[in-house]
Amino acid sequence: MSPRSEAHCPVMRREVLEYFLDTPVQTFIDSTLGDGGHAEAILSKLPESFVFGIDRDPEAVEFANKRLIEYKDRVQIIRGRFGKLEEIAREENFPPVGGILFDLGLRSEQINNPGRGFSFSRDGKLDMRIDNSENRSALEIVNETPRGELTRIIATYGEQPGAGRIARAIDIKRREKPIESTLELAEIVRSAIYGATAADLARVFQAIRIVVNDELGELQRGLVGALSVVMPGGIIVVISYHSLEDRIVKNFFKSEEKGCICPPDLPVCRCGHRPRLKRLTRKPVIPTEKECAENPKARSAKLRAARKLD
Ligand SMILES: C[S@@+](CC[C@H](N)C(=O)[O-])C[C@H]1O[C@@H](n2cnc3c(N)ncnc32)[C@H](O)[C@@H]1O
Repeated sequence: MSPRSEAHCPVMRREVLEYFLDTPVQTFIDSTLGDGGHAEAILSKLPESFVFGIDRDPEAVEFANKRLIEYKDRVQIIRGRFGKLEEIAREENFPPVGGILFDLGLRSEQINNPGRGFSFSRDGKLDMRIDNSENRSALEIVNETPRGELTRIIATYGEQPGAGRIARAIDIKRREKPIESTLELAEIVRSAIYGATAADLARVFQAIRIVVNDELGELQRGLVGALSVVMPGGIIVVISYHSLEDRIVKNFFKSEEKGCICPPDLPVCRCGHRPRLKRLTRKPVIPTEKECAENPKARSAKLRAARKLD
């Protein structure tokens, strides 16, 4: 099979391209390169464009390198984290950047490959690291996090009812022996929630994955970095897949659109805060019904975009 035919299907490709048609220069950062689907769409539809593609997962970097070989003169692929966007841009000497894309979450291969340890329906070692050279995997988080903290993680990052019961069930099992596989963990969650559904399992696994990869911290740092790296008039586009991510994006865009952010009872402005962004989406853009029918992974996607002010 060719790299393209086995690849992750890029979500809201048309909408991303529409925003990127309207940037001051056609140099882009795809900060979640993945299988290179969005990057390929940009490179093929905008013949003058150049794309810097970043991904934290060495396997994604390898895959995208092959897939984008025909555009090798207009693409530079970098293994790294978007939480370090400013450093990467400085070290790699990026020219002015007209648009930055974040397509959050995981590539299909990461979810479907049991060896990556993200799946609650296929057995594999509990891992969930996007970059497997990093230290702490799901194995350590599940087996070493104190029960109270585990409850907080499941409640906060999974928004899962019955988090205390799940943490208790984990705690009891891991005293017998370490919890090592994805199906073991799934079974423990099922034992703690009467009639547990796939959605319950997905939320618990999501909570652990978020902590393993510090996904929300990465997003916050990535947005700050993007605003500093993108040129005035340039556009930041973010596609998120759950409410915790979308809230961070919404709040970041809103607060950077504001002028003064002093407490309302201060008679004069002390903060000196100036608006730095203009939101291009007041409400998030969602995929069409047709796209959701063709690609069920698109169903939870929300796109927000903003333009950096001069
Ligand atoms: C949904 S996929 C992107 C798919 C891509 N847009 C495409 O069309 O093929 C998300 C990608 O972001 C990567 N990723 C997640 N967190 C990251 C981070 N902090 N820095 C860089 N890449 C990250 C994942 O490894 C994954 O490949």
